[in-house]
Amino acid sequence: MSNTIRPHVDGPLSIEGDFELFAEDGTPIEKVSQAWLCRCGQSANKPFCDGTHKAAGFSDQANVTTDYRIKRPVSGAAGPGVRLTIRTNGPIGCVGQMRVTGVDGSGWDGDQANLCRCGQSANKPFCDGAHRDAGFEAP
Ligand code: FES
Repeated sequence: MSNTIRPHVDGPLSIEGDFELFAEDGTPIEKVSQAWLCRCGQSANKPFCDGTHKAAGFSDQANVTTDYRIKRPVSGAAGPGVRLTIRTNGPIGCVGQMRVTGVDGSGWDGDQANLCRCGQSANKPFCDGAHRDAGFEAP
């Protein structure tokens, strides 16, 4: 099964495949084959989407750059699927074979990525470090 991450226009990330979510300290959160993850930074049910992006006026065209390169390796060993680490006050660290697909058909394939969940990155759906200047706070 391929592991797909898909940003939606003005909305969340959907994931489909073999994924397991962990807290930053390594505590397992949930194993999922399909889920909607918050990327606007406003959900009251993070890391999952609760629909708040609509009221928050979150805006993104949901295209995906093909030349993304992770700046620092993500910690955590990859299993058979994709390990998603919900980093405190930061992005979702992803380790494992995945494809990130944009609405325009653009796509990125790789095995390590940081996905923005604060809503402020200029390179969505990837993190560009903007969460620090934005003062993003989330467990
Ligand atoms: S989590 Fe949004 S820029 Fe890093």
